[in-house]
Amino acid sequence: MGVKVNRCAVHTLQTVNCQLSITMPITIADFEYIRKLVYDRTGVFLSEDKMYLVESRLGMVAKAAGSNSVSGLVAELKQIKQQRFSPLYESTVEAMMTNETFFFRDVNPFEMLKKSVLPELLKQRQGCTLNIWCAACSSGQEPYSIAMLLREYFPQLARNQVQILGSDISTAMLKRANSGCYAQHEVVRGLPTALLHKYFHDCGKEWQIKEEIRSAIEFRQINLTEPFGSIPQMDIIFLRNVLIYFDVQTKQSILARVRRVLRPDGYLFLGGGKTTVNLDSSFKPVQLEKGVCYRLI
Ligand SMILES: C[S@@+](CC[C@H](N)C(=O)[O-])C[C@H]1O[C@@H](n2cnc3c(N)ncnc32)[C@H](O)[C@@H]1O
Repeated sequence: MGVKVNRCAVHTLQTVNCQLSITMPITIADFEYIRKLVYDRTGVFLSEDKMYLVESRLGMVAKAAGSNSVSGLVAELKQIKQQRFSPLYESTVEAMMTNETFFFRDVNPFEMLKKSVLPELLKQRQGCTLNIWCAACSSGQEPYSIAMLLREYFPQLARNQVQILGSDISTAMLKRANSGCYAQHEVVRGLPTALLHKYFHDCGKEWQIKEEIRSAIEFRQINLTEPFGSIPQMDIIFLRNVLIYFDVQTKQSILARVRRVLRPDGYLFLGGGKTTVNLDSSFKPVQLEKGVCYRLI
């Protein structure tokens, strides 16, 4: 007998967790320990002025671990031999990630896709599969926005003609992305009402994306600071609002690997105001519609 998973229930629990926060003061030594732990695992660099963030985000993790201080949490973490496989280590790292995202974020990249990039690539590829990668996609609104855009404006495309990969380092975010469930406050951010009613089921407290859109995306855990594993050559890469968290050296090594998986005539999208200039000279900015994306020289 098959097991029916309530995809939305996973999300509800996590939303509750995110909403609770307990600030616990932290010592410089503990801050340094957490800072190194997060950097080693994710490449995310926490500058000194982010001490408040550690205090406010690790309070809940400490409490859940039965400790009433971040120092207690740090002491626990230090005792773990194989940290990489420990749930406490993972929840500590995940608590320090910024997962802000929303549907059709910044509008312009989606207009560029719709009006310039996709029409051109589809003409060139002549029926071959197009590969699109949303790297660091958080809870999935970005790849779902692309999947809806494809369904709306390129309905003639066969299902197997476009493959969308959504990835993130966070297990919790990938679980949410896979569930395709969003709270009311999330579906009112960026998502036109017509698309909400067309592509989501109303599940009472939440909205769940329809299977026809969900199944268009494969979600996978990829740490951008490590080898990407086996992924196809990409026609379009969204790498938005994540480079900002890395130091220059990490940004450069990520861009160098991104460059290798981007097709020679592919397109790279970065977050608003971000640029490859001074980081990687093999990309050139290209103005399309009202925005800028990057192509290989
Ligand atoms: C602010 S969100 C950006 C979401 C989406 N791209 C957007 O622009 O709306 C940043 C995401 O980067 C992820 N992240 C941070 N470090 C990462 C790493 N080393 N590898 C992969 N993802 C990472 C976080 O988990 C988080 O979900």
